[in-house]
Amino acid sequence: MDAMTSKPSEPSSYSQSDIPAATPLPTQRMLWATKRAALEALSAKSQPAGASFRRRWELFEQLTILAGFFLRVFGLFGRGKRNAQNVRLKEITLEFDDLPSAFDGYRVLHLTDLHLDFTPGIEHSIATAVKQIKGKVDLAIFTGDFREKIYNGYRQILAPLKTILNEIQTVDGCYATLGNHDTVNMVNDFQNLGIRVLANETVEVERQKQKIAFTGVDDVHYYYTEYALEALETSPKLFKMAFVHSAEMYAMAEANHYRLYLAGHTHGGQICLPGGYPIFTHHTAGRSRARGLWKHKQMIGYTSSGAGTIALPVRYFSESEVTVFTLKTKRS
Ligand SMILES: [Fe+2]
Repeated sequence: MDAMTSKPSEPSSYSQSDIPAATPLPTQRMLWATKRAALEALSAKSQPAGASFRRRWELFEQLTILAGFFLRVFGLFGRGKRNAQNVRLKEITLEFDDLPSAFDGYRVLHLTDLHLDFTPGIEHSIATAVKQIKGKVDLAIFTGDFREKIYNGYRQILAPLKTILNEIQTVDGCYATLGNHDTVNMVNDFQNLGIRVLANETVEVERQKQKIAFTGVDDVHYYYTEYALEALETSPKLFKMAFVHSAEMYAMAEANHYRLYLAGHTHGGQICLPGGYPIFTHHTAGRSRARGLWKHKQMIGYTSSGAGTIALPVRYFSESEVTVFTLKTKRS
């Protein structure tokens, strides 16, 4: 199946009266949606390396209850909670020698791992961080994990998400990929909020007759399908960015000439040792790609620590973040 390419959505500025209508899913998206729904129903864990087995979420939840008990006993819980609710705006400038000059200064807002149903009011901390951005960004991308629970409903996250969207202003639109905590059922509701979910699809953006592209890949930590790789392999020969929930497609993206890769999923460890060393990363892309900036051959990657938390509403030696990247054309 060929990856889909399309034009960006209209410039977005969210208000109660400015909600685009949902449209029927085209055939390729229907195929993806059917396959993802089946994996969700099976509680499967399908990854690029071929692993496929049932998840053990209940065991994880029981272990976190125990961890929370000990954090309270040792008087660390309150501090961890304050750390988690302090969402920082990070601004990072990246230089590329092949970024078309028309895109010099292009700004990408990256939000990930909001887990809006876990910490009441976290949307206000995220909105406050977004409000600090000066002017419009060119593009906003959410790389998944909007909810904390990986089962049951999701509609409880829609109102908090709207609170955040109200503070985002873009030129080229607002896009999302789904994470491993998300469900395919979210797609239409997100579209109604003005977010276009990219399901292994590539979007081209044109300015002054120059083009760049970005590909949004569905989660590959639980829900890898062949469509994810095909989206990377069939993308156009342009300066391009990959947006994926986790860093676990980094090698495949670089092999297909992507220049920037934005991901989340790890929460930067969330509970880390002094110095920011993650105890758990929950990804297969290696510790060097578990948080912050990294490089793989010709591709720059960034693994955000995310804006929310899971399991326990605490952070130690890791920061909640939303991130703005300014892309610059390197002058020789
Ligand atoms: Fe995740």
